[in-house]
Amino acid sequence: MINAQHIILIGFMGAGKSTIGKELARQLHYPFMDVDEEIVRQERRTIPEIFKTGGETFFRQIESEVFANLVQNKERSVIATGGGIILLEQNRSILKRHQTILLEASLDTLFKRVSKQQQDRPLLKTDSDMKSKMEVLYNERLLLYHESAKYIIQTDGKSIDTIVEEIRSCIELP
Ligand code: S3P
Repeated sequence: MINAQHIILIGFMGAGKSTIGKELARQLHYPFMDVDEEIVRQERRTIPEIFKTGGETFFRQIESEVFANLVQNKERSVIATGGGIILLEQNRSILKRHQTILLEASLDTLFKRVSKQQQDRPLLKTDSDMKSKMEVLYNERLLLYHESAKYIIQTDGKSIDTIVEEIRSCIELP
């Protein structure tokens, strides 16, 4: 049996990938997988701890391995990724082979969502001017998100139900 084509959610930190992914999976009756959660489960430590001991390069290596393993799953699933999944070419090439959905939001919206959980996000944690740090990362990554996605959904001001509905109306299911 060939590998399943998964529904993969990408986007910046705070884009709602996990929240939307869970609801989408529930409605479609597909398994839900979360790359960040799987990393924490396998490594038996938190993401900030992984960054602290191994740095970002080490984290990206584990992230790629976990992601490559999750997509091997034969059962079609909804997969939520971490915001930096698009940074490595090997991940982008996987994303292009699946039904990859980019959840987009304005920097203002992302900032509002992320400021509530800054401590969980090592890339932003130590920066006192979090908004400018976010803006730099966002602009660095924008093209990579677009290049990797098959569908783009604008999420600003929309409810979870509306976003899930929009995704369901554009993805191709067997
Ligand atoms: C990261 C995003 C995080 C997590 C890690 C790095 C990033 O996931 O993978 O802190 O580089 O954008 P979320 O997008 O779920 O916050």
